[in-house]
Amino acid sequence: MNLKYLVLALVLGTNNALASFDVLKFSGAHRLLSQKRREVVSSVAKGVKYRLSKRSSVQTEQCVLQPKPPTFPGSDGPNGTVGGSNGLINATDSSCGASGATLNITAKSGPNGNIDWINCGITDGGWKPPFVQISDIVTVELSSVLEDSTSPFQACSSYVSIFEKYGTQFDVPPILLASFAMQESTCNPKTVGEGGEQGIMQISQDKCAGAPKGDCLDPDFNIMAGTEFFADTLKGNNGDLFLTIGEYNGWSSGLTISQATAAANSSCCRCQNNLDYIHQFLNGWCQNIDAYSHDPPLGKYFNLNDCN
Ligand SMILES: *[C@@H]1O[C@H](CO)[C@@H](O)[C@H](O)[C@H]1NC(C)=O
Ligand SMILES: *[C@@H]1O[C@H](CO)[C@@H](O)[C@H](O)[C@H]1NC(C)=O
Ligand SMILES: *[C@@H]1O[C@H](CO)[C@@H](O)[C@H](O)[C@H]1NC(C)=O
Ligand SMILES: *[C@@H]1O[C@H](CO)[C@@H](O)[C@H](O)[C@H]1NC(C)=O
Repeated sequence: MNLKYLVLALVLGTNNALASFDVLKFSGAHRLLSQKRREVVSSVAKGVKYRLSKRSSVQTEQCVLQPKPPTFPGSDGPNGTVGGSNGLINATDSSCGASGATLNITAKSGPNGNIDWINCGITDGGWKPPFVQISDIVTVELSSVLEDSTSPFQACSSYVSIFEKYGTQFDVPPILLASFAMQESTCNPKTVGEGGEQGIMQISQDKCAGAPKGDCLDPDFNIMAGTEFFADTLKGNNGDLFLTIGEYNGWSSGLTISQATAAANSSCCRCQNNLDYIHQFLNGWCQNIDAYSHDPPLGKYFNLNDCN
């Protein structure tokens, strides 16, 4: 996959939140978290609904699928991943200090850690991502999102069963797959990127071999290929999730701010790495928060904001 183009696709992608109203309910603390999130979510959902109605000419399905959530090895159950016992990321890698995770989602933090911890080292010699696995993070869950008809995830409703099928097959929680799909294409299977990236997952054309009748936009094939790529990358990284999510935005271990922003004044300003990306992904989308329209904005660098 041409990461530069994938980066571009992600950046140019949608502003929609992942959505699930069913957060973690295993304890009193989790219940509070759930209530808090519902409040945030309902205010976010209104804006999202409007945007969707403007934007999604292709996604008109009103049908609300409510598939039985499967259980994923590597996650803590059918309702998402739950991190540590306190509802925060289970951060055992202490080389970058404390995670600074908070139950509340703020500009710079959330249940999966503070942006400075996530971006550990980036201002000081280069990024050394704290080692975190899928089972360590806190997320909402994909399938229950469709219980809410105003959810931005309704755009994906036709494909949720596919995310779940390949999530199970490749051992990746569907919420992560759908998060990429929403950002890249708003779950619009007809999307073709500037570099020819294909479909819902915006896969590069070199991954299209074996597509049914040569149709790389085929949602089932496309999601399979995108999922396989993510799972292979994660495996190649020994389960290092931050590194793997970062790589989807063109980050690599050792990334510095000047490297990430090198393209700022080039003809491809959006070819920069989004320095807020992983925080937005994990503390935004994965919490059912629209990372781009959230008030306050999630992040501290906003290095793509000056791109036109
Ligand atoms: C998952 O969510 C469903 C729907 O709200 C709920 O009935 C079920 O008890 C939850 N499962 C767990 C393990 O919390
Ligand atoms: C947190 O991670 C450690 C190390 O992987 C593990 O032993 C522990 O069981 C985890 N705690 C929870 C609550 O999952
Ligand atoms: C979290 O947010 C709630 C509601 O906005 C607020 O009442 C509470 O004080 C916040 N907690 C912290 C630790 O900031
Ligand atoms: C881009 O140009 C602006 C204005 O000339 C300058 O301040 C900034 O440092 C440049 N950024 C990079 C990454 O070169």
